[in-house]
Amino acid sequence: MSARALSARLAYLVVEKSNSLSQLLDQELVNCPAKDRALAQEISYGIIRLLPRLDFWARQLMDKPLKGKYRQGHFLILAGLYQLFYMRIPAHAAVGETVQASRELKLGNFSKLFNGVLRQADRQRESLLEQLAQQPTLQACHPNWLIEKIQAHYPVEATTILQANNERAPMWLRVNQQHYTRDEYQQLLAENELEAQASDLAPQALRLENPVNVHRLPGFETGSVSVQDAAAQMAAQLLDAQPGEVILDACAAPGGKTCHLLECQPTLQLTAIDIDEHRLQRVRENLARLQLNADVLAADASQPEQWAQQPFDRILLDAPCSATGVIRRHPDIKWLRRADDITSLAHLQWQILNALWQWLKPGGTLLYATCSILKEENSQQISRFLTETADAQLLAIHDDETVQQPGWQILPGQQQMDGFYYARLFKRPA
Ligand SMILES: C[S@@+](CC[C@H](N)C(=O)[O-])C[C@H]1O[C@@H](n2cnc3c(N)ncnc32)[C@H](O)[C@@H]1O
Repeated sequence: MSARALSARLAYLVVEKSNSLSQLLDQELVNCPAKDRALAQEISYGIIRLLPRLDFWARQLMDKPLKGKYRQGHFLILAGLYQLFYMRIPAHAAVGETVQASRELKLGNFSKLFNGVLRQADRQRESLLEQLAQQPTLQACHPNWLIEKIQAHYPVEATTILQANNERAPMWLRVNQQHYTRDEYQQLLAENELEAQASDLAPQALRLENPVNVHRLPGFETGSVSVQDAAAQMAAQLLDAQPGEVILDACAAPGGKTCHLLECQPTLQLTAIDIDEHRLQRVRENLARLQLNADVLAADASQPEQWAQQPFDRILLDAPCSATGVIRRHPDIKWLRRADDITSLAHLQWQILNALWQWLKPGGTLLYATCSILKEENSQQISRFLTETADAQLLAIHDDETVQQPGWQILPGQQQMDGFYYARLFKRPA
């Protein structure tokens, strides 16, 4: 399938059928010629990132939208508009190739319509852009419920957060310190004509100036380097596991943090659990590539009495969450999440946190983490936990933390990192 046809199909499956974009890409990108895959990816991400704007233009340009069994045609128009307005593809090629793709989607009967709409869009470029500027909600390109939540939680930073969510995320690497120091690996990258900058916060993190296929990274196959955002890399440093300790990585899949913990401390007795057996396979693959060992177990973190054998010195709880901190990497979150999800996720996080606390040794540390920016899942959760749990004490990461405002909230785009939340909890000995 051509890049245009595939991207229209994928965007349709995400927006109208609630599929995850990254899963679809894993399954369907192979159907596209290798040379066109990057383009298919760029256009499908673009449509999903900027959906309300493209929809708005389609409404201006058409008498009525395509519906029912022709619905994929609507997304093909959005694919055309994205190319015309946001890519450096000459207009005649963007229009011609998009119209051509209609036949692959069995929408050849509409080719005249597609051609007309896209040519008109190109002719009316200035006025379409002007109309957009007059509609502030179309700048944000988020669902209203999420805009309102972000504005309520972050009255000062809201606009910056919404903008950062619509940016393309950089590619961050984690250098395996068992193989190279970060400086050595940065030098190795330079020798391979890959430029990278070191993070000020995460000691093993390097940010590539330009994203590349992982197979171009020296030593990737042999485990010298992994791809992981710098914010996610803070987990290992904050958990601060010591040699030989008994560690639980609850909610571990796909295993980015599991592997990082073991790279930093290879002698840990680490148990990595996740409820999703399919996703656990990724943990096993990552451990194998990096030649690391952990007990990997399909289990429910909210029911540790069913599988835990002994209490843990430290627990990493990277809780299931709304993923509102990683929208720039996964723009489909904007359309897949519903406002109600937040309450049920917060409830699940609360249950897991309370259940695992019983399996933390007195004197032990639990690191609570989410890739969310919503306070219900983060500081409000931990504040309530500290108030209700007699033996829990906040181990502040920053000086300005209080029981009312605990934890460290990284906002998306800060120091070029994903949005993440961390809170460190100490269990007082009796
Ligand atoms: C944020 S992801 C974890 C990312 C992982 N820690 C990493 O760094 O690669 C959350 C994970 O929680 C898992 N999960 C959801 N509910 C769970 C439960 N009740 N028990 C254990 N794992 C659960 C999901 O399957 C998902 O893999």
